[in-house]
Amino acid sequence: MIGVKKIAHATYETPDLDQQIEYYTDILGLTLVSREKDAAYLASTLDHHSVVLRKGEHGKCVRLGFQIGPDDDLDAFEKQTAAHGIKTQRKKDPEPSVSDMVTFDDPKGTVMEVFKRGEFSHRKFPTKGIVPHKLGHVAFFVKDPKKTTDFYCNVLGFRVSDWMGDFFSFLRCGTDHHTINLMRDEHDRHFHTAFELRDWGHMLTACDTLSLNGYKLLWGPGRHGIGHNLFTYHRAPNGLITELFAQLDQMNEALGYFEPRPWHRDHPQRPKVWTPDPSASNYWGIMPTDEMHK
Ligand SMILES: [Fe+2]
Repeated sequence: MIGVKKIAHATYETPDLDQQIEYYTDILGLTLVSREKDAAYLASTLDHHSVVLRKGEHGKCVRLGFQIGPDDDLDAFEKQTAAHGIKTQRKKDPEPSVSDMVTFDDPKGTVMEVFKRGEFSHRKFPTKGIVPHKLGHVAFFVKDPKKTTDFYCNVLGFRVSDWMGDFFSFLRCGTDHHTINLMRDEHDRHFHTAFELRDWGHMLTACDTLSLNGYKLLWGPGRHGIGHNLFTYHRAPNGLITELFAQLDQMNEALGYFEPRPWHRDHPQRPKVWTPDPSASNYWGIMPTDEMHK
């Protein structure tokens, strides 16, 4: 099957576009690359954009963009998707830098935008704000994590990296341990959006940047058990949670285990079902505040 290879961007509805643009540029250090009346495109990497903001009533993740490989055929991907009984749409020149796109809904109603990267941005990295490497993953609360996990695996080609019990899945589409996470809840909604930082030192300056600008951490710093990444979480002005992480597990597909790290407790560290134990959430012991689930 043709599977997606990388998350390219995520699109959010947000009530105050200017305030959210200021957060992404001045605090996170993304670059505003294009501004339309009710939309803004922000970039962190070689991709033209990593985040799209559109005016809306509430903070909400509404679309996810995924790239297929340079040698993959978008027509064949569309046929493969339609063969699952999924209604697809084809869009030509739907957004800056994307010439051809297949779209369809996932089970919770988030629009999947699948395309082939035609060109790279050659932008210089900014020098103000946190400046993450990239958009790393987007996590959602979903009513039925098993059903949604099956959809991401069967339709988009994701692989399961880990489960916590039967209620929280971690799915990869490349070497990163997870690009999509799905946690059971009563309502389908965004949980957090995560950007990758360089290392522990970068996390320290990121926390100081957040603090100096009035952003308090909701949880962290800590080290997750599942994925083993260093993490901190804070809330963006539109009410959605942002995670900043580093040292996420990297899968060696040929060998079937994650690259060895000193903090692993399994040798080798393979995909598995984790017991819902506090250390699966944070090896360092501090549990999330109630704020994390609001
Ligand atoms: Fe995360």
